[in-house]
Amino acid sequence: MNAALLIDASYFIAAFLFIYGLKRMSSPLTARSGIVVAGAGMVLAVLASFLYTLDVNDAAKPFLSTNLTLAIIALALGLGWAWRSGKKVAMTEMPQMVALYNGMGGGAAAAIAAIELIGYKTHSSVSLTLAVLGGVIGAVSLSGSLIAWAKLDGRINKTLRFSGLQAVNGSLLLLLLAIGAYIVWHGGVVAIPVFALFFVLALVYGVMMTMPIGGADMPVVISLYNAFTGLAVGFEGYVLNNPALMIAGMVVGSAGSLLTLLMAKAMNRSVANVLFSNFGAAGDEEQGEMEGSQKPVDAGDAGINMRYATKVIIAPGYGLAVAQAQHKLYELVKLLQDADVEVKFAIHPVAGRMPGHMNVLLAEAGVPYDIIYDMEDINNEFKEADVAIVIGANDTVNPAARSNKSSPIYGMPILNVDQAKQVYVVKRGQGKGYSGVENALFYADNTQMVYGDAQKVMVSMIQAIKSLGGGH
Ligand code: TAP
Repeated sequence: MNAALLIDASYFIAAFLFIYGLKRMSSPLTARSGIVVAGAGMVLAVLASFLYTLDVNDAAKPFLSTNLTLAIIALALGLGWAWRSGKKVAMTEMPQMVALYNGMGGGAAAAIAAIELIGYKTHSSVSLTLAVLGGVIGAVSLSGSLIAWAKLDGRINKTLRFSGLQAVNGSLLLLLLAIGAYIVWHGGVVAIPVFALFFVLALVYGVMMTMPIGGADMPVVISLYNAFTGLAVGFEGYVLNNPALMIAGMVVGSAGSLLTLLMAKAMNRSVANVLFSNFGAAGDEEQGEMEGSQKPVDAGDAGINMRYATKVIIAPGYGLAVAQAQHKLYELVKLLQDADVEVKFAIHPVAGRMPGHMNVLLAEAGVPYDIIYDMEDINNEFKEADVAIVIGANDTVNPAARSNKSSPIYGMPILNVDQAKQVYVVKRGQGKGYSGVENALFYADNTQMVYGDAQKVMVSMIQAIKSLGGGH
């Protein structure tokens, strides 16, 4: 048996499966199978690594590595943990889970770097440099992702800020780079405490970089760390001469970078602004007072009004996911369609807490894709709609982003729900959006508030429409 050939062939197929899986993930229709395809690639890559442990020349002693037991224990623990947490995670906790897994990836890349550096023997200066870079990026991604996880999970509510913070962080980064250069300069032959200091500083830097960033920007930060992890894994793949790691790392690195840029663009902000502006932590002190009042309406009355409308556009947000109201919402949509109402969904690119959050949620309820529209494709239609109904969305429909220059979200593209003849906003109370900003839409003349949990509100609307009987 030629183990080397088998390993290379497996890595080639695994790399193909990663890229093909990613391609399938780009459409909600094929995304599910894309994940399965990429997962199969990962299984193949992991299995292929075990071929390294075979002693092909000695049938009596088939395994070379004494680490085989450790590897199997690690795999069993990882598999068990991932299986359990993957099964029970709620849709609303998915961003936290992504942050945790991403941190683990960064940590794994940093661990590979540490082993390679400390056990350094014959690497070229290129691979030594990449090991150092991969180590620092992976360690930053590990500690940064853990802080992002804790912030998203509500375990850390504080944003660390003091004057001179950026100077401290800048100095830390310079020190890190200097130690990294020192390691490379000495051909990797330095005392263990230097390596230890290097990795500890990288971990501290990840914490310091993430602590000042407000919770509202965590999804972007996680995506950025995702790109970091990919880069670190790619670098370590080069060091280990492992093409599967290199390709997987590059794919994750470039996909993460693109996603970070797209999210920042959808909020009309630069990545630097996300990292250094303390957005979403300061609240809304600078916005000024709202004019008008919030006008409540009964859920049943709002439902009946929609039943007699010609065109209704639905703007879903994070609250829909919290309430798990997607199935009831689709039931309502079908009732409206049966009454000849034209119903469309308008999806803001950062509605919810992660990219594609709303699409996944609606797909889960069986909503057909042809009535789901991206923001730029539907924004001009709101002015023709009799009713726009906002369900658990807030920042993504705040007209202050268009008109109020002093608003922290000024410039963020929004869904033009305020242009509909009648707007209903479904939410539990007077709570603010994720960014902590007050919403001018709720006070507009053509807006009425349907207070309550989104699922309960949907049930009331369905009952009210059903009580009317058939016919338009
Ligand atoms: P949010 O601004 O977070 O507003 C969600 C609203 O849902 C809240 O106002 C809340 O009001 C309501 N709500 C919560 N639970 C509810 C329930 N059970 N029933 C009914 N309503 C409920 O959501 P959004 O409009 O989707 O905006 C997304 C935010 O995330 C933006 O700030 C965006 O910039 C940020 N963000 C997202 C991403 C991605 S990729 N999605 C990336 C970066 C940043 P009540 O408490 O009064 O109920």
